[in-house]
Parts: sequence; C-alpha cells; structure tokens
Amino acid sequence: MPTFAAAEQKMAFVMVGLPARGKSYIARKLARYLRWRGQETRVFNVGTYRREIVGSQVSHDFFDPDNPEGRKERMRLAELVLKDMLRWLASSGQVGIYDATNSTKERRRWIRETCTAAGVTVVFIETVCDDPHVIDRNLRDTKLHSPDYAGVASEDALIDFKQRIAHYQRAYEPLADDEGRFVKLIDEGTKVVVHNVDGAILSRVVYFLMNLRTKRRPIWLTRHGESLFNVEDRIGGDSGLSPRGHEFARALAGFMQPRRGKEPITVWTSRLQRTIQTASYLAERTTAFRSLDEIDAGECDGMTYTEVRKRYPEQFEARAKDKLNYRYPRGESYNDVIQRLDPIIIEIERHEHPILVVSHQGVLRALYAYLMDTPPADCPHIPMPLHTVLELMPSAYGCTERRFPLSS
Ligand code: F6P
Repeated sequence: MPTFAAAEQKMAFVMVGLPARGKSYIARKLARYLRWRGQETRVFNVGTYRREIVGSQVSHDFFDPDNPEGRKERMRLAELVLKDMLRWLASSGQVGIYDATNSTKERRRWIRETCTAAGVTVVFIETVCDDPHVIDRNLRDTKLHSPDYAGVASEDALIDFKQRIAHYQRAYEPLADDEGRFVKLIDEGTKVVVHNVDGAILSRVVYFLMNLRTKRRPIWLTRHGESLFNVEDRIGGDSGLSPRGHEFARALAGFMQPRRGKEPITVWTSRLQRTIQTASYLAERTTAFRSLDEIDAGECDGMTYTEVRKRYPEQFEARAKDKLNYRYPRGESYNDVIQRLDPIIIEIERHEHPILVVSHQGVLRALYAYLMDTPPADCPHIPMPLHTVLELMPSAYGCTERRFPLSS
C-alpha cells in the first residue's frame, strides 16, 4: 500500500459522536494501525487538554450548550488542540487524529476549513450508537475509570455522565452529505456509510474500521517448538521439530487445556512444518496461512548467522544498522513482513473468539508490535524466545501481557 508520506498528503481524521460511543477506542486503534504501517500518527484528545488546563473534575454543567462560559472555554480548548495538531502536522507528523465530540456542523465546518487552509485533508469518522447496553458498557469500561471521576462513587459518576451526554444530545447534528469526506460507523460497525472517500490508502483505513470489533478475548502468540534448524542455529528453511520441540508442543497442548472455555479457540499456524507439528497436539483444528511464514531470508536461507557474516559481510552490517528496512537479497525485510501481515491483523480485529497463533520469531515480532503498539524501529528487536507463550489480553485502550515459559 502506498503511504501518505509518498503521496505527501497530510491527513486529519476527525472523530464525531456523542460521549461513550467508542470514539477514543477507535481513534487509538486507528493510530496504532497507522503507526504500525509506518505513518507518523498521533491522537490529539481534547478531553486530555481539558483535564490538564481546566481540571478533571468539572460538573456536567460545563458541557451544557446553554452555558456561555462553558461553551467559550470548550471552544478555546478545541482551538488550542487543533493548533497543536496542525503545528505537528506541519513538521514531522503525517496523520493527526482529532478526538473530540465535534458534534455540531458549525464546529466541523471550522475544523474542515482550518485544516484545508493548512493543506491538510480531513476525513470525519462518526460513531453512531443508540443501543443502551453498548453505551452502558462503554461508560462502565472507560468513563468510570477516567480521572474525571476519581474518588466519585460509581452510581454518582454514572448519573453525572448521563447528564453530560444529554447536554451533547441537545446540540448534536449528525454528519450530512455536504460535509466532505466521512465514514459513519453505525451500531459498532454493523452498518457503515462511506461518503466521498477514495484512493488506496483511505480505502484501507475504511476496511480496517469496518472490521473493528470490541469483543475482548485473549490472543496467544507462540513460536514453534525448537526445530532441527534451531539446533544448528540455521535461519529459515522448513525443518521439522527436534525432540525438545515435540516436548514443547505437548506442553503447549497442556497449557491450552484449562484455557478452553465455552468459546472455541481458533488456532493459526504458518505453512511451515515446524508450526504445523507444534499445533498438532492440540485438540483444535488449525488453519495454515502463508502470510504467517517466517521472514524470507532469500539467498541467506539455511545459513547460520556466522556463515552470513562470512559470506555477506556488508549485508550483515547493513542489517545490523537498520534491521527494520534491511531486505535480504531476494528475500524480505521486516517492513515487508509488516505489509504482508495486514490481512492477518484485519482477521484478528474482526474475530470474536480467542486466537492462538503458532508462528515464527520475525512474524510474531511484527504481530506483537501491532498489538502492543511498539515503535516500528524496535519491532525487529522484540524478545521472542522459543518455548514461551505470550498471552495478550485486550483492555479498554491497549493490551496487557503475560509471558509463560513452558519447558526447559
Ligand atoms: O532463527 C530463527 C528465525 O526464525 C529465523 O528463521 C529467522 O530468519 C530469524 O529467526 C528472524 O530473527 P532475526 O530477524 O532476529 O534474524
């Protein structure tokens, strides 16, 4: 996929929607995805500025559209944040995500005109949801833990926040066709309306947004058990497991056993023998994906690192200098791996059941970098030892991680 940088087009995604409709969740997920794809992306959250400047514990009256002081103050904050975002976009930034309710046409016109004058393309992302269960879940998952309600009893916080929503509801104007480019995500993406959005990059973003589900379930990542090539310190290839590798594969089956709940566990492997053999002791059926195959070491495939250093000293050095971008002769770079994993990320996002991925060091680093929002340059250096299962549990705005070393 071409990049925004290649197109030299600075972009602003502008969130629109009532409070507790999942805007910040989507903003952060999109930021993580774009950063992972190599775009300098940052979320500018007006609520964060408000908490820093005005203080976190403001009563719902502050958000009343008929309160002139509150309105003025909220506009001042909105201007400050937009200015900061445009300043950042004018320097190193490529994609800004402006996260606020932006609930009136007037506010959005001002944002669009200001951004356009600064040479920044605007795409609105509106989240629409009237399902009281979803709103209630969002409130309990995020708002009750916000600094806005630190030390406030949950029930009082809920009452105040519902009043805040009611204020916004009175002034709210949904996005209309005369407001330029936009994506409307209705009822958690069950229905999606796309208006005036075209081109490879934006289509990719829409595709990502369409597949976002909020279901929380664990994702386990593990490398295959030790392979015969691992024993000899050789990279790549398609060797089978060593006896220790088989031992790990059995231990993995034992590890998964108590983790089986009512929901089936989806198991993915690469198409290489060592991952298929590792998963073969599990009760689940597995699916093998070519995109989960290890980084292609090209002409170096099957060599040891010592042999690579001897036969290709310049290559070895170039890789040590910039492991993210270095591409093996006739092989791949980490960046190439990231690009080819895009469909897997989409599958992970849309999938509602727990997932176990049995793959390889390089590929798992790239998947982990997405899930844990690791800066791209650090991705090729993430520790990913053999015989260790990583359990990643999505939380409100990220993932928590536990590592389980399973055998000797
Ligand atoms: O050594 C095991 C292995 O999976 C190789 O097949 C692969 O080339 C390598 O790890 C990736 O790790 P690194 O990028 O650190 O060389």
